[in-house]
Amino acid sequence: MAAMTQQVAFASWVDHFRKNEQVHAETDAAIPFDKPCEIGEALRRPLIDSIRRFQLGESGDGEQLLRKAARAGDTEYWQAAELFVAEEQQHAALLLRLLGYLGGQPMRKHWSDAVFVRLRRLMGLRTELMVLAVAEVVALSYYGGLAGAGPDPVVRAVAARIVADEHPHVRFQRDRLRAGFADARPPTRAVALAFWWLTAIGATTVVAVDHGRLLDAIGYRRTRFIRDVLADFATLAAAVLRR
Ligand SMILES: [Fe+2]
Ligand SMILES: [Fe+2]
Repeated sequence: MAAMTQQVAFASWVDHFRKNEQVHAETDAAIPFDKPCEIGEALRRPLIDSIRRFQLGESGDGEQLLRKAARAGDTEYWQAAELFVAEEQQHAALLLRLLGYLGGQPMRKHWSDAVFVRLRRLMGLRTELMVLAVAEVVALSYYGGLAGAGPDPVVRAVAARIVADEHPHVRFQRDRLRAGFADARPPTRAVALAFWWLTAIGATTVVAVDHGRLLDAIGYRRTRFIRDVLADFATLAAAVLRR
């Protein structure tokens, strides 16, 4: 019965991602990328530095995740995961266009991504999704902040377009994680919760510091950013791990 519920849920995710393709085509066509950028230097610099990091972060090919998803043996989930990875790749492509608009260059490598890729190889699907879900929750406040307080209509439109995908992404990871922990005993849940909170606090703090100049420039207080991310995270963690 539980397996059945799970499959129905992921068929609906396949549906969601497929329907989203049309929404994307219309939204993306309406973003005025060819307009000249008039953002002042004081804001353009930290914006470029920050977007470059996120562009690289969004550009993974999802190979690890999809291999693990395939091994999990649920076809619906695997199909949905493939469509999910495609959405992340679209985010990378949009941020690349945004960088072009801002007059910045993409970043090829960052030490944190190399470390992250190694770590992910050691993880099972469930642990990988926990780490990924933290990145998704950080993205909600990051793109949400830019969508509301970004310096011009192009930046705001790109951020709004991406954050509209990231909200369902968090729910997608939540659904798979909830199924993954369905049979877990209380001690396993407690260890998972502790690991997850540490990851969330660590990652959010690093992002708030690393992207602090941009957050300052758009008037998003770093402490508020951390609070916003961790509030969303607390909701997610409770939905996954509370019985
Ligand atoms: Fe994304
Ligand atoms: Fe995402």
